[in-house]
Amino acid sequence: MQEKIKKIQKEIEAFSAKSLEELDNFRIKYLSKKGLLTGLFDDFKTVAQEERKEIGKLLNELKNSAQEKINDLKKKFEDLQHSGKSDADLTLPANFIETGSRHPLSITRSGIVEIFSRIGFTVSEGPEIEDDWHNFSALNFAEEHPARDMQDTFFIQKSPDIALRTHTSSVQVRVMETEKPPIRKIFPGRVYRNEAISSRAHCFFHQVEGLYIDKDVSFADLRQVLLYFAKEMFGEETKIRLRPSYFPFTEPSAEMDILCFLCGGKGCPFCKHTGWVEILGCGMVDPQVLENCKIDSKVYSGYAFGMGIERITNLKYRVKDIRLFSENDIRFLKQFGSVI
Ligand code: DAH
Repeated sequence: MQEKIKKIQKEIEAFSAKSLEELDNFRIKYLSKKGLLTGLFDDFKTVAQEERKEIGKLLNELKNSAQEKINDLKKKFEDLQHSGKSDADLTLPANFIETGSRHPLSITRSGIVEIFSRIGFTVSEGPEIEDDWHNFSALNFAEEHPARDMQDTFFIQKSPDIALRTHTSSVQVRVMETEKPPIRKIFPGRVYRNEAISSRAHCFFHQVEGLYIDKDVSFADLRQVLLYFAKEMFGEETKIRLRPSYFPFTEPSAEMDILCFLCGGKGCPFCKHTGWVEILGCGMVDPQVLENCKIDSKVYSGYAFGMGIERITNLKYRVKDIRLFSENDIRFLKQFGSVI
């Protein structure tokens, strides 16, 4: 108890108020019915006989110094009011106001949106709580596809299935159902997967999806737009490659890599000695998906792509642990001062 009293004594001595309001808060904190000192006097009842004298004295001193502090500061404020002037030195520099900085993921997202907006893409968003149709069925995910498994997806309700969306591809469906081609859009947003949290995976992360639907859209259009994006994002000298891949909603499908900018393609630990770093998934929208959304696949074709914002941010800033993005540690966040 002695320790506690000494600690509070120090706090009281160090206290100073800039306004009467602050002073009143101080009074409430220490001297009101529910204040700290009242609590200590309550505790005092349980103090052993041989300690009572000593602790009682300390407690009284504490109370007196709190009251004195209040009286002194009150007088100071009153004097100031009477004299009509403040004792502040107006020639001193103003207090520095911290303005904060943008979150690294927001910086990357704005960067991506800005790059695509320069070539005519506009932004749409969809809900994070999705039904089975928009997240899976309309995108050709077969009934037994592993992504539908409880292990990968956070379900809110079963039959009819409602889940946290596992990707932003669901927004493709929502937009195609409601808008008429030509469609040239990107969809940034948060997605959820039931994964064990580690430095490389989290149960939520962020994606940007792209969708382009028009007459006579070809794979060459897709490649050129992605090359433009990669150069704008990672620098003019960036090289890309498209690897055949599989997604249920695109045919053909591909994954895009960029040439590792650390080793220039020679192979290093960063690119796992392959010379290439994976950036995104993409492909030509499967005609069946167009039909699912009531778009005539004999007239229209299109491409889609999807990338992880965390991944792009990691590549740009070499962040090694994805958990840093959601821990709100100021020491990490304030390193990203710039605003895009
Ligand atoms: N939705 C995929 C995922 O989360 C990424 C993706 C791949 C999006 C190919 C696309 C695409 O639009 O065409 O893994």
